[in-house]
Amino acid sequence: MTALELFRTLIHQKTGIYFRDETLFSLDASLKKRCGALHCDSLEKYHAQILNDKEEMDALINLITVNETYFLREPSHFKALNDKIFPEILQRKAPGSKVRFLSAGCSTGEEAFSICISLVETHGPAILERIEVFGVDIDETVLNAARGGFIGDTRSGGWTQKLAGGILPPRTAHRKGRTIFRRCSRSRSVFKN
Ligand SMILES: C[S@@+](CC[C@H](N)C(=O)[O-])C[C@H]1O[C@@H](n2cnc3c(N)ncnc32)[C@H](O)[C@@H]1O
Repeated sequence: MTALELFRTLIHQKTGIYFRDETLFSLDASLKKRCGALHCDSLEKYHAQILNDKEEMDALINLITVNETYFLREPSHFKALNDKIFPEILQRKAPGSKVRFLSAGCSTGEEAFSICISLVETHGPAILERIEVFGVDIDETVLNAARGGFIGDTRSGGWTQKLAGGILPPRTAHRKGRTIFRRCSRSRSVFKN
């Protein structure tokens, strides 16, 4: 097995991410970039090093994950959630009990926050008392950004204005952002070997 194939197997075992043959070139490029930054002169040596270095493994994972996200990234999913899925779940739930959501692979948190916001838009702010949204991600860098919340964040575009404009008062929104991601780190361990 080549060093590149060894990395493919390792990453698959650690993350579930599998680089098919036709995408191996991008893994190769990431590995070489990282090796260069570490002044490591071969992939074989880098592989031997990373096996016993959890921090380096995390750094490599951060390098290979694709973190694209934005608010309401899949509008039809949020429409289905609001029109059909959420009302059905509420019907099955005991009055006052919480409905919990998981944004699996939450990146910097826009999806988790969008769940909150779209439910508030449809059901009113009181719905926040009925829901909890958690986000998990294998990439610690994006989780740290997610934990920061969104107020004043340029990535949130119109949503910051919307939040500030009354759907959620800014302070509540900020607090909710933090609440949402409070447990990310713990949940993240689910994805570890
Ligand atoms: C393309 S982003 C999608 C973000 C968000 N769900 C959205 O749709 O806007 C995919 C995210 O999944 C995360 N990811 C990939 N494999 C993962 C795994 N095995 N466990 C947890 N997170 C993972 C990546 O780090 C990345 O942040």
